[in-house]
Amino acid sequence: MWKGRFAQDTSSLVQQFSESISYDWRLFPHDIAGSIAHARAQMRAGLLTAEEFSQIETGLREIETDIREGRFEFRASLEDIHMNIEAELIKRVGAVGGKLHTARSRNDQVATDTRLFCRMEIDGIIGAICALQWVMVDQAEKYAGAVMPGYTHLQRGQPVTMGHHLLAYVEMLQRDRGRLLDCRKRLNVSPLGSGALAGSTINLDRARIADELGFDGVTHNSMDAIADRDYIAELLFAIALCGVHLSRLSEDLILWCSSEFGFVSLSDAHTTGSSLMPQKKNPDVCELTRGKTGRLVGNLLNLLVSLKGLPLTYNRDLQEDKPPLFDSVDTLRMVLEVNAEMIAAMEMREEKCLAAAGDPLLLATDLADALVKSGVPFRQAHELVGKAVAESLKSGVPLHQLDLKAIDGAFSEEMGSVFSLERALAARTNVGAPSIENVKREIERWRGCL
Ligand code: ARG
Repeated sequence: MWKGRFAQDTSSLVQQFSESISYDWRLFPHDIAGSIAHARAQMRAGLLTAEEFSQIETGLREIETDIREGRFEFRASLEDIHMNIEAELIKRVGAVGGKLHTARSRNDQVATDTRLFCRMEIDGIIGAICALQWVMVDQAEKYAGAVMPGYTHLQRGQPVTMGHHLLAYVEMLQRDRGRLLDCRKRLNVSPLGSGALAGSTINLDRARIADELGFDGVTHNSMDAIADRDYIAELLFAIALCGVHLSRLSEDLILWCSSEFGFVSLSDAHTTGSSLMPQKKNPDVCELTRGKTGRLVGNLLNLLVSLKGLPLTYNRDLQEDKPPLFDSVDTLRMVLEVNAEMIAAMEMREEKCLAAAGDPLLLATDLADALVKSGVPFRQAHELVGKAVAESLKSGVPLHQLDLKAIDGAFSEEMGSVFSLERALAARTNVGAPSIENVKREIERWRGCL
């Protein structure tokens, strides 16, 4: 629309190739908020009369309503959200609309819009994580006493409870929230006033604009402010890692609802059947969560690779930051919501968990600890219990029914008492360990801080 030095129109193929309005339209509320704050600063600097400011503000607010209500026609020939809105403003309010872009460039504008967008999305994602944590704490409470095997190498290791296992994910999600908040803190500064790359000869009150937009301060180097996409990379990393956590949870659930484990039953509403095998009940939500995590990791890589070779400051490559950003925030939001719904409805099969934990070999370490308590050095205790395990496997006599004293004199009669799951869990009282008392206390702690 603005021809300036160009004698020819942009080729329609180039228009198609370079437009971003098909996806960056969703920045509109932020673009408009930024423009109003900018215009207000222009008025304070004497560049706009109060009347002109009010025309611009009203025009922008009407455009915002029209976009929200689906009445706005976006034009690819106007490339992006910034030019679509500005052109429409000029159409509506006349030449005064042409004053809005004074002391501003699309470069500081897009940087402002995306920071505001990220800030809003972070708040939404944190809310969704918190909702999932609540659901998991509820389930942890319901199954606080449900004993199950804990695994290393996917081999049964030691007894834990389902409550303890679920709270492990609540911890991970809490760190995810911390990373998001940290990213939010760092991104919450205003680049407006950085212009195309070198500020402007027209000085607006940057601090006041920042304040009006809820930023904590302003950026301090115009070139960095224009070129910087760290905040998107940080957000994409925080999202990808949160996805990785949920993918690991998915893998646990997929295993647990197999016939081989049988620890959990997902509701019919959150599983699918097979078009061929009538007996199937598939954990598709878990599989898709695991699968979509690939996309989240890919989106982070996508941005990092785009940034890697860019000289300062703005390069059009930077327009490619938005598709992975939008995709990651949308994908994670959906993943969090659907998992919260599914986990709230899932049921543990406590008898199956208990049966799997009934293997006395899970208490082999406790037997070694009993030897240690009687004065045997741990390495030696490990060796002696290893012998007993070998004997049990060879003879087919379960560990707790073996004549341990016949294997070594260091064993004593009372040590047979270690073969009680109840006792084994009750003894694990140190901070972070899975005694049922501890798990209950942790549940209370989470209820207090979530
Ligand atoms: N649509 C562009 C983007 O997303 C806005 C900035 C355009 N700036 C420019 N100098 N062409 O990056």
